[in-house]
Amino acid sequence: MKAIFVLTLCLLLRGSMCSERCQHQHKGDNERFPKDFSFGVSTAAYQIEGAWNEDGKGLSIWDTYTHAHPERIRDRTNGDVAAESYYRFEQDLAALKKLKVNFYRFSFSWPRLLPNADTTVINQKGIDYYNMMIDKLLANNIEPMVTMFHCDLPEALNQFGGFTNAIIIKYFRYYAEFLFETFGDRVKKWITFNEPFDYCVLGYGKSYFPPLVHSPGVADYLCMDNTLRAHAAAYRAYRANYFQRQGGKIGITISSRFYYAQHKSGDEDVVERAMQYSLGWLANPIFGKTGNYPQLVLDDIRNNSLSEGLSWSRLPPFNEFWSKVIRGAGDFLGLNYYTSRYAALTKTPAGEIPSWEYDSQLQYSVDEKWKQGNSNWLYCVPQGLEDILKWIRDHYDNVEVFITENGWSDYGQLEDTERVDFLQAHLQAVLNAVNDGCKVTHYSHWSLIDNFEWNMGYTQKYGLYYLNMTSPNKDRIAKKSAYYYRSVIDGRKILHSLN
Ligand SMILES: *[C@@H]1O[C@H](CO)[C@@H](O)[C@H](O)[C@H]1NC(C)=O
Ligand SMILES: *[C@@H]1O[C@H](CO)[C@@H](O)[C@H](O)[C@H]1NC(C)=O
Repeated sequence: MKAIFVLTLCLLLRGSMCSERCQHQHKGDNERFPKDFSFGVSTAAYQIEGAWNEDGKGLSIWDTYTHAHPERIRDRTNGDVAAESYYRFEQDLAALKKLKVNFYRFSFSWPRLLPNADTTVINQKGIDYYNMMIDKLLANNIEPMVTMFHCDLPEALNQFGGFTNAIIIKYFRYYAEFLFETFGDRVKKWITFNEPFDYCVLGYGKSYFPPLVHSPGVADYLCMDNTLRAHAAAYRAYRANYFQRQGGKIGITISSRFYYAQHKSGDEDVVERAMQYSLGWLANPIFGKTGNYPQLVLDDIRNNSLSEGLSWSRLPPFNEFWSKVIRGAGDFLGLNYYTSRYAALTKTPAGEIPSWEYDSQLQYSVDEKWKQGNSNWLYCVPQGLEDILKWIRDHYDNVEVFITENGWSDYGQLEDTERVDFLQAHLQAVLNAVNDGCKVTHYSHWSLIDNFEWNMGYTQKYGLYYLNMTSPNKDRIAKKSAYYYRSVIDGRKILHSLN
């Protein structure tokens, strides 16, 4: 009886007190998405394609890393075969059609197209594969949204420093021009880089991802610096040489949590600091007014660098030339949102000296009421999505936002009610933000199918479709959440029934 009462109250309030489910406050009567709002799903090449050494593909750092260090992957697996999407796009297409998505966000494997990273060798089989995908998507009225780089750096580039060598700006720009030339007649939504903070800090700072560089507070910052310049170089090349003919949009995808103040006093400063150290690090140079890193971040790191005995800052500001190139170099902000945290200032930050944690002087915590997924960092906080969208609206002149990822991990069950709850709550957060004037135009769920989840292997499932790894055809089987998402897309309206 009491349980029924609490459940009813939860359903009525859909409020924060309801810890057992993952829900979000519904404001006003409006449950309908604007007519031109676009729904999609996301994947990435290394996580689904397989065919790691076939048809002329070169090696990426994820190939070399997973082969050299199987012990670093939770289930000792890799992306050699994965969902076999290189051979099974028809099955992915069938799943996409069933969902009735408006767009499909997927990534090109750089080493599949340019095995040496540069244009000395162009792999026609790779071009054929992506042409086939793009043409079939368009024939089915599904718009392709292409990520040019999603973690799988060509090993050829890694040999001489990868993202820490500024020559990557030139390599990426020529790769990008090759893509615009080859596919830009049909691809109109381009994302240069996916989650730079993650592949930089984890790959060049903490030595958790390839290329296993351990240089926190130095090489990871250099990686983000070169990423921003490579992004802007590609953007400027598109605007100068392709935009007039092709008329597409080009942006970058940044992952960020939203942060709430742990203590009541000084809360605005803490939220501002935490946001500038995450989203702002990459977004401020492009979408802010200064064409540079957030001033707070520049000041801290300069100060810290000098007291560590350096004669320069570990995070030098962009010079006038680069500020001009970078500022405004984005037609939209791609946002990957999964979760949020509380933040508080601390005199004893976690992390090494130096490191991102040390520089930011923040410590993070979670709310015990937040429901946890099957990834130790993932808590369901739909309010954070609404609040980060408003933060973007207020800080970056209401730039257009594509939500390029948002998703929930579990154990792969077909009756994935938690994912349905997560999806419903986050779509409500998006709609609340839209109704509050935020210019959000696209929402993409991660992911279409269960896939290779980096160091977690195949142990954490994010798919709307179950991937049957043991069936000979690698069947994609719709979960409950796939039916739910399809109904939302079909009706362009948030449904509150789980049936
Ligand atoms: C810079 O460091 C000095 C001493 O180490 C400190 O007194 C000052 O407040 C710092 N300034 C900033 C902006 O952090
Ligand atoms: C996965 O495939 C195997 C082998 O074909 C089959 O026995 C099993 O029932 C499938 N699992 C699901 C959930 O469909």
